[in-house]
Amino acid sequence: MRPSPDPAGIDALDLLDPALHASHDLTPVWRWLRAHDPVRRHERFWSVTRHADVLRVVRDPDTFSSLQGNMLRTLLRGHDPGAGKMLVVTDGPKHARLRRLLTPGFGPRTLGPVTHSIAEATRDLLGALVRRGGGDFVAEVAAQVPLRAICELLGVPEGDRQCVLELTGEAMLGEAPSGGQAVGEGGGTPPAAMIAQSEILLYYTRLAARRRTAPGDDVISLLVGSDLTEEEVLLNCYNLIIGGDETARLAMAGGLLALATYDKEWARLREDPALVGPAAEEILRWTTPAAHVGRIATRDAELAGRQVAAGDVVALWTVSANRDEAVFDDPGRFDVGRTPNRHLTFGHGPHFCLGAQLARAEIRALLAELRASVSAITVTGPVTWLPSNFINGVGTLPVALA
Ligand code: HEM
Repeated sequence: MRPSPDPAGIDALDLLDPALHASHDLTPVWRWLRAHDPVRRHERFWSVTRHADVLRVVRDPDTFSSLQGNMLRTLLRGHDPGAGKMLVVTDGPKHARLRRLLTPGFGPRTLGPVTHSIAEATRDLLGALVRRGGGDFVAEVAAQVPLRAICELLGVPEGDRQCVLELTGEAMLGEAPSGGQAVGEGGGTPPAAMIAQSEILLYYTRLAARRRTAPGDDVISLLVGSDLTEEEVLLNCYNLIIGGDETARLAMAGGLLALATYDKEWARLREDPALVGPAAEEILRWTTPAAHVGRIATRDAELAGRQVAAGDVVALWTVSANRDEAVFDDPGRFDVGRTPNRHLTFGHGPHFCLGAQLARAEIRALLAELRASVSAITVTGPVTWLPSNFINGVGTLPVALA
């Protein structure tokens, strides 16, 4: 259990500090902000913490734009390398066009086979962990499944997968989801990660060239078949990799931790297969792997009685909105049967996560496989939390599965 800061000392808390998020459970701080200062002015940005206000912002991209970034790190730097070219950091007609182009890649024709192999990979990886009696669930299961799914989605040929998986894992050491920037939060990207990032981009450049002459059913073929430039094709591949890797990993790992912690909920889930769907949604709410999304105001606007000025950076703390007592009954309870569950884990509005169905399939496959082959989940060592104000979740999760 991590300690919680006293909300009375909120003026001294630096919400930008990655270490604060790793070492503390900020639940009481978010609760205090929702109740007393739901749209709070900090020195360099605004914090929006209520569900209704988050919805109001993401539904109005004309006033609250993604074009200069969608997270505090890039917005405060004033620049996102993918701006105007990569789906998540475009707006308006360009965004709509990119989204229309990519959407078929997430339709039943592609997702059907991917879902099938997710189930297979989960069975193999979890089975191996159970046979060994346990290990680090993050490294051995949760990190593997999303990467495999993305390789499949992008049409990486079977023979290249191992190498691509290793390179991507390495490259991700300096990355963050749904953002598209190549520097680590606490400083520069480690050199090994930079080399891996270049190699992976080179790999996808070659793969894109192959797909130009021999298209398949995959997302890269969709991208190269359009009028996007080579840079735009690569940036949008990259958006999928960074958007779908760590987030899904954190949901799976945080979900297992929740089931280990709330054993009555695990027992409920084991008894009732109909709870797999609602439990997956509750895991998404509970874990909230993207702690915030960011926007920049294009004009002066009023938000919950506060005056936001054109050019102001706004952080929408999903991690708080997902515990808003105005929307969720007893929000601090992990309830595998929670319905309705209007969590904002995948965002909302025009930028609603394109990979939501894929992520859901990954979590459901994990729950189905846990039900089939595991009866007891025990945390066997210290759990570490990631130092980030953006990526929310556990970095290591030693467990014994029996
Ligand atoms: C967008 C979270 C899985 C690809 C988003 C957004 C969030 C999010 C919050 C909205 C960003 C914004 O409004 O600025 C998550 C979480 C996931 C997950 C928590 C897992 C639990 C995935 C997967 C993929 C993916 C598996 C693809 C392989 C994308 C893309 C966008 C996006 C392409 C941009 C959509 C747009 O701008 O129209 N995601 N995501 N995500 N996500 Fe995910």
